[in-house]
Amino acid sequence: MRIFLSLISILMFFSSLFADDYFSTYFDKVDTSSLYLKETTNSNPKLLIVLTAGVEGPIDEMKDIIEVDSKDIPYFPKAKAQGHAGKLIFGKLNGKDIVLMKGRYHYYEGNTPQDVVFPYFVLNALGVESVITLNAVGGISQSLDPGDIMLVTDHINQLSENSLRGLSIQFPEKQFTDMTDAYSFEYQTLAKNVATAIDIELKEGIYLATQGPNYETKSEVKMFRAFGADAVGMSTVFEVLACNFLNMKVLAFSCITNKAADLHEGNMCHEEVLESLNQMSPKLSKLTTALAKEILN
Ligand code: HPA
Repeated sequence: MRIFLSLISILMFFSSLFADDYFSTYFDKVDTSSLYLKETTNSNPKLLIVLTAGVEGPIDEMKDIIEVDSKDIPYFPKAKAQGHAGKLIFGKLNGKDIVLMKGRYHYYEGNTPQDVVFPYFVLNALGVESVITLNAVGGISQSLDPGDIMLVTDHINQLSENSLRGLSIQFPEKQFTDMTDAYSFEYQTLAKNVATAIDIELKEGIYLATQGPNYETKSEVKMFRAFGADAVGMSTVFEVLACNFLNMKVLAFSCITNKAADLHEGNMCHEEVLESLNQMSPKLSKLTTALAKEILN
């Protein structure tokens, strides 16, 4: 028994060493990674657009494009989800540096929450101050239909995890992140004005994130509706936590690809999500392009 207990404490000692190492070396890796991107691209983007599967964003209007594969960037997580390419695309929009992330990183792929937000720390170190992010969701609110774009006004974290755990504590003066303006109110107003000007209808609502990778049960959706959620997805919240920690302004659009489980007819599948995104792609690209120009202005 005594030998067994000693073995356990030795194991715990080594695992605590490892955990500590992960968090304390995190920011050295951020520096290495951002230095690599600086040397490879010579770009100083102020705006990042995170694209969801099938959506191109402003790429057609960008000049001097440099694509960087995430597998070539030191310490970057590898994109594994179907439809997510795993590329950073640097270029100029109206003469201003911008970066697109084609393929996001999800918790359900097996990444740690801190892996998921690693690119945001890196891109912030490179100069990014604003983030527009897209995601796919199931519509919980009766008023949301497939094809709708929902401007995210706030979120509910049902991931049971936190991407700032172990990271923010290393900055004693900003351990506890304010989330009262999590989705920049200023950018929300801008988004509504831009959408009206280019004749794109925007709905509004609260995004709730689950871990995935399963779709919700009908009972879970009913509970989320009672919580006040309008749409459910499997991403974005970890990233928005990191952005707020880093004082980057965030704007998020949820693409309603399907009705959530308890309103959905028949089984749910990823093909339906990808098909919806493909159909919505032109208006999402138009919206993100117009907004990006305004933000970079
Ligand atoms: N639930 C969770 N994530 C999703 C859904 C959904 O219904 N649709 C697209 N992403």
